[in-house]
Amino acid sequence: MMFDKDTQPVNLKSLITGVTIRGAMPEDVVAISKLWLEFMEYNARFNRSFKVKSKIGGRFARELEQRLTDSNYHLAVAEVNGQIVGYCLSYVSSKPYFFKLGRFGFIGDLFVLGKYRRNGIGTLLVEDAHTFFKRKKIKQIELLVADKNVNTIRFWNKLGYKVLLQWMYKK
Ligand SMILES: CC(C)(COP(=O)(O)OP(=O)(O)OC[C@H]1O[C@@H](n2cnc3c(N)ncnc32)[C@H](O)[C@@H]1OP(=O)(O)O)[C@@H](O)C(=O)NCCC(=O)NCCS
Repeated sequence: MMFDKDTQPVNLKSLITGVTIRGAMPEDVVAISKLWLEFMEYNARFNRSFKVKSKIGGRFARELEQRLTDSNYHLAVAEVNGQIVGYCLSYVSSKPYFFKLGRFGFIGDLFVLGKYRRNGIGTLLVEDAHTFFKRKKIKQIELLVADKNVNTIRFWNKLGYKVLLQWMYKK
């Protein structure tokens, strides 16, 4: 919880039915882009490479809106009492032509507001992405996570995800 902006946790465990996972609508993209900025801020604490330009939220919101009509994309939100508290952006991608794998699923963004974490919302969002990929007949799902983001790595491990690559860099 060290990185959480709002440290007052909300315990929804007994209220998990109070969480709605639904497909995003055009009117949601501004709220989602605000969560995205928090997500990027969160990542930037692990490494400066993840810092984003200032005043970039509006452009990101417009891009999200365009993707709502692209059948290879799936943008879902988690709503509690009418507030969007998390989102997940997943999409179908393709490996270079020489790989046998071909199409694969990619979870681009997953974020739950600090005070709503550890209530199963992240898991519900990922299960919803899995349903999307199943519908698309996708056999493998991939994602990137900062190596210092150990709590999130535990989350992915619990959901059965394993390490595929080590993404290295040098300045
Ligand atoms: C990763 C994230 C989406 C998880 O959302 P969440 O709603 O808290 O996840 P869940 O409540 O479904 O967690 C499921 C399980 O994952 C594990 N887990 C989740 N967060 C954890 C943490 N901080 N430390 C250790 N294990 C954790 C636990 O086993 C947890 O089950 P439990 O609470 O019964 O012990 C959320 O922590 C988040 O938004 N993090 C910041 C952004 C981020 O790292 N996104 C992912 C980028 S790849």
